[in-house]
Amino acid sequence: MADKDILILAIESSCDETAASLVKNGREVLSNIISSQIELHKLFGGVVPEIASRKHIEKINEVIEEALSEAGVTFDDITAVGVTYGPGLVGALLVGVAEAKAISYAKNIPLVGVHHIEGHICANYIENKDLEPPFLSMVVSGGHTHLVRVDDYNQYTILGRTRDDAAGEAFDKVARVIGLGYPGGPKIDALSNEGNADAIDFPKPSIEDAPLDFSFSGLKSAVLNHVNVCNMKGIETNKADIAASFQKAVIDVIVERTILAAKSSNIQTVCLAGGVAANTSLRKRMKKACEAEGLNFYFPSPGLCTDNAAMIGTAAYYEYLAGVRHGLDLNAVPNLKIGQR
Ligand code: KG4
Ligand code: ZN
Repeated sequence: MADKDILILAIESSCDETAASLVKNGREVLSNIISSQIELHKLFGGVVPEIASRKHIEKINEVIEEALSEAGVTFDDITAVGVTYGPGLVGALLVGVAEAKAISYAKNIPLVGVHHIEGHICANYIENKDLEPPFLSMVVSGGHTHLVRVDDYNQYTILGRTRDDAAGEAFDKVARVIGLGYPGGPKIDALSNEGNADAIDFPKPSIEDAPLDFSFSGLKSAVLNHVNVCNMKGIETNKADIAASFQKAVIDVIVERTILAAKSSNIQTVCLAGGVAANTSLRKRMKKACEAEGLNFYFPSPGLCTDNAAMIGTAAYYEYLAGVRHGLDLNAVPNLKIGQR
């Protein structure tokens, strides 16, 4: 480590992954450790907040020690500690925030709170060293569906958002309806390869007077209706066709609205972010659409799309450069808004 290097220890515990990472100078990931609780929550068909908090407490020290050891550094090498303080499950967030505050106090190093979704957007910087704002980011995660214009490293403008369910939530709910289990996104992604995406014509709702907003609850109900009607008529449902047709409906609106937003705001570069950005068909379709429109297109590798601490380290680095420092009174903010400081 050179004297001028900025080394961030980043912590992420907003939902069901306990994660820690060491990130050098914003874009070089020295370690990225994730302890997933998915197997535990599978038993309940979704994330149980109390269990998540308890598991974070059990794992957090282990995960941080592993991140330091894999990076070959100690607490004394760290410039600042970055942590997700919202949005997310309050009890889960508090574990990471308390840990980060303890490290900041004990080592007398700056504390930098990070917005989880801004972290997802910043995941794009890690593998794409040439990427710089301004660009457009389509954020599709379990809790968020936002079209965000990234004006600068720390400046975000929301152009569109979901009015009801997030895209990932729709994937998870539909997977439950057709009996695929939790988390549904990756399962629908895989099963869609065996189905016909044109088999069922599911609705693609749009919002009047808000062409960049989304709505997925009607689509989710349409899948439920389709399954119920089949059951009543004694027709066997074809799960692969349902998965493929549902996935196509979601991707159609995401791609269409992203391209519309890029064109209407005169932006040349598009990025994907969030867990649903790991979806193979979404990545392919968005790439094709961007190529057709002459837009640059970036996306993180799948492991950096779903929750991780490396993305929090990158976001914390740009916050640190902008002079953001939090006090030891930093609290978890479960409904923290994008761009809120
Ligand atoms: O960003 P993320 O890890 O956590 C949140 O911040 O919410 O996103 C999790 C969401 C879940 O809804 C999961 O089903 C979805 O991302 N997901 C996928 C895929 N991998 C994860 N959705 C579609 N296709 C995938 N391959
Ligand atoms: Zn996330």
